[in-house]
Amino acid sequence: MMFRGALARLAAQYFILLVLILGCFDLIVYVTVSQSLQAKADNDLNHAVSQAAKQVVITDTVSFNAQGLLDPSVADVFVRVLDIKGQEVSQPRAELKKLFNNPNLTAPIAAAKAGQSVETRVSSGTDIYMVDTSPILNPKSHKVVGILQVAQAVSWVDDALSGLVRQLVLASAIGILLGALASLLMASRSLRPISRAFQRQREFVADASHELRTPLTLIRTNVEAWLRRSNGTSRAYARSIVEEVEQLNRIVGDLTTLALADARQLRIEPQPLELNEVVRGLMTQATPLADERGVTLRPDLNGGVRVDADLVRVRQLLLILIDNALSHTPSGGQVLVGVTRQNGRAHVTVTDTGEGIPPRDLPHIFERFYRADKARTRENGGSGLGLAIAKWIVDAHKGEIGVKSSEGKGTAVDVSLPALD
Ligand SMILES: Nc1ncnc2c1ncn2[C@@H]1O[C@H](COP(=O)(O)OP(=O)(O)OP(=O)(O)O)[C@@H](O)[C@H]1O
Ligand SMILES: [Mg+2]
Repeated sequence: MMFRGALARLAAQYFILLVLILGCFDLIVYVTVSQSLQAKADNDLNHAVSQAAKQVVITDTVSFNAQGLLDPSVADVFVRVLDIKGQEVSQPRAELKKLFNNPNLTAPIAAAKAGQSVETRVSSGTDIYMVDTSPILNPKSHKVVGILQVAQAVSWVDDALSGLVRQLVLASAIGILLGALASLLMASRSLRPISRAFQRQREFVADASHELRTPLTLIRTNVEAWLRRSNGTSRAYARSIVEEVEQLNRIVGDLTTLALADARQLRIEPQPLELNEVVRGLMTQATPLADERGVTLRPDLNGGVRVDADLVRVRQLLLILIDNALSHTPSGGQVLVGVTRQNGRAHVTVTDTGEGIPPRDLPHIFERFYRADKARTRENGGSGLGLAIAKWIVDAHKGEIGVKSSEGKGTAVDVSLPALD
């Protein structure tokens, strides 16, 4: 499918959105449940403390009626009562001694003696308890006469929360997995009509450029016939039309190539090629043009490099580069076409001693219809499609093309292709 990059981006965006929504949902559920469980544990402890406080008997000393705590609502509550000296008044079961003797409770006992209530989290073996340590006040003198400690197990809060986390993680993992599939499906669905319209558009351009070629050929044939028979002003007109038609023909040809490439209707037919031979063949073809411009065109061939490539396209590619080099090199200059092999890749480098490309134009020269010096290149007949085609040919061969240029000194275009052997 076309737009593979856009599809991946769109799917990734849907996916990130989904993960964010799920994450927020999980957080809200966790915080809400944890707060309400905590509130319930607090309420239970407060209730237990008030129940236990009712069983404390205050005379001159304090005593505690353990029987009074048989109410089922406070059945899992453990109580210890101390007098003001810290002596135990109640008789807690042996296993609870360990719980109440926890060193973390020393400070709360001291605080209770000073009249303050403190809640402490204490762990005893596998269980976790919330222990409320409060002062017992003499109702008449309002003096502290003893200390009441009430412990209630709260492990169930943590157990419930870790169970909740496990379930949320599992549910979210399944959600994310399904969401990833759904994101991909949704993204590819929303892109399908655009992709189809784009493909139709490309086919239309390819067909239109192709259709233009027949009438152009006809015009050319007729104008050439007219040129042969005419003389004087009429001949000048005819010559001018022939030149324009040739230019138009070139542009339509280049456009057709690019449109067909876009519509994926152009096939590369690779075959093993010796690059030295290809370059030698091109020298013969391009030397007359170089001579006409007074530019020396030389090959620089070291050994041989073979590539798996489409001969017609590689020739077209190198001709585009040589044509550019010759067009932008003033008379007396030099154009060198080098073939080398480096790190398993074949390099063809076209170097000229011409005018160079201004740095601000360099990033754009592979764009369609881009010409650095518009006025001059129009005169030369350039339309700005050459390098766009060159780039397509290089990409189709899994190659790379790079340009180095310094203004006033020259330009070097390097094409690298995977080498054979
Ligand atoms: N060797 C070079 N030296 C200086 N400028 C160059 C060179 N090669 C390319 N350029 C600049 O890059 C522009 C784009 O090149 P490209 O080959 O795509 O188009 P063109 O040569 O103008 O037209 P066409 O190749 O379609 O006839 C050129 O107009 C020119 O400004
Ligand atoms: Mg060109």
